[in-house]
Amino acid sequence: MALLTWSDKYSVKVRQFDEEHKQLMNLINQLHDAMKAGQGKQVVGDVLDGLIRYTQKHFAAEDRLMKAHGFPGYENHKKEHNQLTLTVLELQKGFSEGSAPLSQTVMTFLKDWLTNHIQGVDKEYGPFLNGKGVT
Ligand code: FEO
Repeated sequence: MALLTWSDKYSVKVRQFDEEHKQLMNLINQLHDAMKAGQGKQVVGDVLDGLIRYTQKHFAAEDRLMKAHGFPGYENHKKEHNQLTLTVLELQKGFSEGSAPLSQTVMTFLKDWLTNHIQGVDKEYGPFLNGKGVT
């Protein structure tokens, strides 16, 4: 069973970002599957790298749009993005150096972080951006 399943409760009312969040959930599910299936370090590392690259691209896209429209929560939101990026880069470093294998705890952290972030600060930009004509 997938670790994460997208549903309307995760919608931020901006189509591009709903699609990107679905993709992020897919990538977290892939990482979870690879870990549970006992896939080798190379495979798990590749999936983790892909997740990090996509996350950075997604955060940059949200940051750009919030800034371009003068969203008042921009600074705080960007801080959350920066914090998560630092955390996952630490995870990646520990994983590649062999000191921190991926575990269910790490997967639960990623899952909870993503869902809390989407349902928290991400949802706050929806009505504001909708008001600027972004849907
Ligand atoms: Fe969708 Fe703020 O990340």
